[in-house]
Amino acid sequence: MREYNIAIIPGDGTGPEVMAEAVKAMEAVTEAGGPKFNFVYYDLGGVRYLKKGELLPESVVSELRQTDSICLGAIGHPDVKPGILEQGVLLKLRFELDLYINLRPVVLFPGVDTPLKDKMPDDIDFVVVRENTEGLYAGSGGFLRKGTADEVAIQESINTRKGVERCIRYAFEYCRKRNREKKLTLCGKTNVLTYAFDLWERVFYECSRDYPDITTDYAHVDATCMWMIKNPEFFDVIVTDNMFGDIITDLGAMIQGGMGIAAGGNINPEGAAMFEPIGGSAPKYAGLNKINPLAAICSVQMMLEHLSEDAAAAWVFDAVAKVVKNDIKTLDAGRMGYGTREVGDLVAGYIRENQS
Ligand code: IPM
Ligand code: MN
Repeated sequence: MREYNIAIIPGDGTGPEVMAEAVKAMEAVTEAGGPKFNFVYYDLGGVRYLKKGELLPESVVSELRQTDSICLGAIGHPDVKPGILEQGVLLKLRFELDLYINLRPVVLFPGVDTPLKDKMPDDIDFVVVRENTEGLYAGSGGFLRKGTADEVAIQESINTRKGVERCIRYAFEYCRKRNREKKLTLCGKTNVLTYAFDLWERVFYECSRDYPDITTDYAHVDATCMWMIKNPEFFDVIVTDNMFGDIITDLGAMIQGGMGIAAGGNINPEGAAMFEPIGGSAPKYAGLNKINPLAAICSVQMMLEHLSEDAAAAWVFDAVAKVVKNDIKTLDAGRMGYGTREVGDLVAGYIRENQS
């Protein structure tokens, strides 16, 4: 039987609650005859920081590097100044483990309401490949004459040939493997960011020569936002930089029905990977058994796909599809008609039905 070592970082707020349901789903996968998982828990996040002043110890990083995969609940604590945990834990994990791809599917499940009028599940089914280690997130910049009337703040977008190329190549490969419309759209801003996206565009068309089976397209980021609302069916796979990817995937989460179901993967295709629900720690719902665990469960589905456990990934996907179609009323916290644990039980139940 295949066995995987999985690091679990429940984190802050509702993170622990949704991770418990994600673990439940993995246990159901094992019971149904799928792979076995060994879980190791890490208490990274706001609580550890407030207690010990520790964010992400080096020893933890090297342990995480060795695991087959990492599942993260949420990071963010109301008593910690914004930016500290984000930079010290989440972004640091992305950088230290060189998780250079942020993969974010935008999928409307049948039975889920989208705010887009007249759009059906067939129309909203695409994947955003977001560069995850460079751009405006690289932390390059600084202040000049800080605190004076002549203050200057500089925040630079770092785009390396290597960083851009490995992201774009991954997107082409992913698009080929996904095997749908086989269309890859570069989302940029070549009309204004004439250095950064000049590089992106050149690399994109250079790489495209190795993928004659993939149709290429380009859209400015503002137009991408427009099409995502007006004609989301235009998209199959979108590749973009870190900042634009951050913004358009929140828009993506909304058109697929909300944060309750939006999952993402932080991936180094040659190494570690970390999967997470993309919504935050939602402190106001913490401990109330009200938050929707489906996004965390969908992140498990992505993890299984990444581990090439395609059958198990399909069990999880189908179970989520059944729960949203047959059982819960809405995806919104507190209005599902079931609690967090009960939704997790429903998913686990459907997964176990695959038992042979
Ligand atoms: C995300 C989040 C993070 C980001 C924050 C919490 C630093 O918004 O995963 O999209 O900006 O990447
Ligand atoms: Mn974001």
